[in-house]
Formats: sequence, structure tokens, C-alpha cells
Amino acid sequence: MIPVLIGKHVVLGVTGSIACYKALDLASKLTQAGALVEVIMTHGASQFVTPLAFRSLTHRQVTTSLSCPQSEHSIEHVALAEKADVVVVAPATAHCIAKAALGLADDPLTTTLLATQAPIIIAPAMDGHMYQNPATQHNLEKLHARGMTIVGPDKGRLASGITGIGRLIETQQLIGHIRAILGRNGYLANKTIVISAGGTQEHIDPARMITNRSSGKMGYALAEAARDQGARTILISAPTSLSDPVAVQVIKVETALEMQQQVNQVASKAEALIMAAAVSDYRPKTTATRKLKKDSNSMDIELVKNPDILVETKGSMVKVGFAAESNDLIENAKLKLVQKGLDLIVANDITTPNGGFGTDTNKVVIISKNGVEENFPLMSKESVAHQILDRIRVLLDKFSPC
Ligand code: PMT
Repeated sequence: MIPVLIGKHVVLGVTGSIACYKALDLASKLTQAGALVEVIMTHGASQFVTPLAFRSLTHRQVTTSLSCPQSEHSIEHVALAEKADVVVVAPATAHCIAKAALGLADDPLTTTLLATQAPIIIAPAMDGHMYQNPATQHNLEKLHARGMTIVGPDKGRLASGITGIGRLIETQQLIGHIRAILGRNGYLANKTIVISAGGTQEHIDPARMITNRSSGKMGYALAEAARDQGARTILISAPTSLSDPVAVQVIKVETALEMQQQVNQVASKAEALIMAAAVSDYRPKTTATRKLKKDSNSMDIELVKNPDILVETKGSMVKVGFAAESNDLIENAKLKLVQKGLDLIVANDITTPNGGFGTDTNKVVIISKNGVEENFPLMSKESVAHQILDRIRVLLDKFSPC
């Protein structure tokens, strides 16, 4: 379940493109995340996939025509428009985009597009030349100027066999845009949250480095959760294999010094700084410009201490640190809370099965500077992120009472 999607009416307009099969995946993932997915299919779409497929995935009626006796929405053709929290057209063909740009209303999808007050996302998918045709571009500009959000298309292999622009954007990206739009007026709207993620890399020579097992998942989950609550989110990321979250400003760094420099640039404008990154405490004093040779039986590498980013970042923002511990979890975390001048520390025992580094779940204790200790069961990093942000929200409300 994804909090920002739970119970939300997502009206999914599906038009006649081979990319319809991806709309099935989108409908399924949105439903699994807790959204109420109301599918409207054009006649063209039902040539590619059946309404039954969508009904089976969403457990809801599918609307296919303005006078469809099976559809509970067929008579009152603006019912879905009114119910919608967001309308998403994916895939959107050139034809559907042109009809929407003209304001035509000859099927349930175009009537919904005209009647709804909800935000609209258009995800085009078509042949590259059709997409690049000035007519299509002009139509998309018109829709954009009317406040619709156009996402994609991507470049890649098209149904025609050629490689070019025109592919429907990936489901996860599309869900990211839906989440960002649904959350934009959330509790953290107008707040800036800076989050660090991943394990820094300290270079020994062109081939070798000192790093750690952080995958970035905890920090990226925090960035998505902050974005979902409406925050202007800045993610300062050490190298990871994760995709950039949608609608988040991502700044890529490698070393602890680079991370500190970027945190300094943005933290003064932020209401909160959350350091989920595993920052290397030491770096090699020098980085060899050539690969070191193994000509002796042992090798000494002199290390110097990295600055402590949390300690050295000045300002009135809420500061949240993580404590990655393998023993004496609470004592060590409390010490770091005090030494680093934090408002909250999130203690995670990195020896817990399915917790800490690299996993999708984490088991944490959140300790606040006034001594409150909250012990959570193993849960998704997404849920951990929301717990942390809920506490930041309370602290921010205290600092700026209305
Ligand atoms: O990325 P994942 O695979 O999802 O794993 C998540 C995680 C285990 C990395 C994450 O939950 C976590 O615990 N991050 C902090 C790891 C860490 O470096 O802990 P620490 O106890 O060494 O540091 C304490 C705090 O000081 C941290 O917030 C750290 O970001 C910060 N720090 C540390 C060193 C330094 N030079 N500057 C810092 O600001």
C-alpha cells in the first residue's frame, strides 16, 4: 500500500495503442497500492485488450461507451469526472490527444477530460514520426497550457521495429507522477526537505575505493515519501543502482566531501535535513593517479577523518540522523543524538535479518531529543519513511504555530 494512493479515485483512460498492455500493469500496480482504479477504454483500446482484463485487475466496472448498459457510469457520463482525484490517459494516442486539444466530447474518455476538475496526466505513446509531427506537438502544447501534465514519451524500441521516441513511459515513473500530483497539497507543501542516501565512495586509486553496503533504498524511500506529502524534496545521492525518483531534485555525489559541499549549498533553505546516507568516516589521505601495484606483501593506506556533515551543517532546520549499529543500539544512538545536536535519531540494528543495508524493510527505534523512544516492528522502508516524516511534521508545526 502507498499512503498517498490509498482510497484515491484514479480514472485511467486507455486509448488504442499497442502500449495498452502496459496499462494493464499500471492498473494492477495502482490497485495493489490501494487506489480505486476506474478504467475508461476507447473503442480502439478494446481492440488491443479486453475490458474484462481491466475489470479482473481492478475489481471495478470498466466504462467503454457512453451508452454501455453494463457500465454503472454510462448514463451519467460525468460521474467519473466528478469522482476523480486524478485522471490519467495512458497510453494516449495522437488521435486522442488531438480530440482533447479540440475539446471534442464523443466518447466517455473525452467527456471525462472536459468535465473533470481533477488534475490530468497525459502519457503519449505512438510512432516517433507521429509524435514529432507539428500537429501532435502543437496539440500537446495546448493541453500543457491548459494545465495538463504531459509525461513522456520515452525513447526506445517502438512497435514498428525502429528505435526512436514514442514509448509509453515506464509504469513506475508514471506512478511517481501520479503520486507527486496527488500529494502536492500534502502536509509538507511549501516545505523543503533535504535527504541524503547511499554509501559514499572514497577513492584509493582509479580502480579501488572505500565504500559500504548502503543501497540507497532507505534514503530514496524517504525522498518519495516526502514528495508524496508535498515537500520540495532534494535528494543528495551517493552512487546507487536505483532510478531517480520523479519530481525530486536529485544531486549525485561520490565522496563525503562532495556530499558535504552539496548539503551546504541547499540545507540553509531547508526546513529539515535527514541524513540516511552511510557516510565514510575516513578517506585516503591521497588518491593515487595510477593503479597501485601489488609489489609488496602488505600495504598501508593513510586515512584522514572526513568532516561530520550533520555536526557541521549550521542552521535552524530540523536535523535527523540515522545510527547504523551492530551492538548497543540504543546507547550508541543516544550518544550520536547528543553529539551531533539532532532533533531525532533513527536507530537501526544492521544485524537484524531483513533490516539495515540493502533490504526493502527496516526495523528501527526513533529516539527524540526529549528522550521519547519508539520501537517499531520490521516494516517496509516506505513505512519507516512515513513514520519519520510524521514526526518531522510535528516538530515543524511546533516551530511555526499557525
Ligand atoms: O541504504 P540502505 O541499503 O537502504 O541502508 C540504509 C542504512 C542502513 C544505510 C540507513 O538506514 C542508515 O542507517 N544510515 C546511516 C548510516 C551511518 O552512516 O550511520 P553512522 O552511525 O555511521 O552515522 C550517524 C549519522 O551521521 C548518520 O545520519 C550519517 O549520515 C551521519 N554522518 C556520518 C558520518 C559523517 N562523516 N557525516 C555524517 O553526517
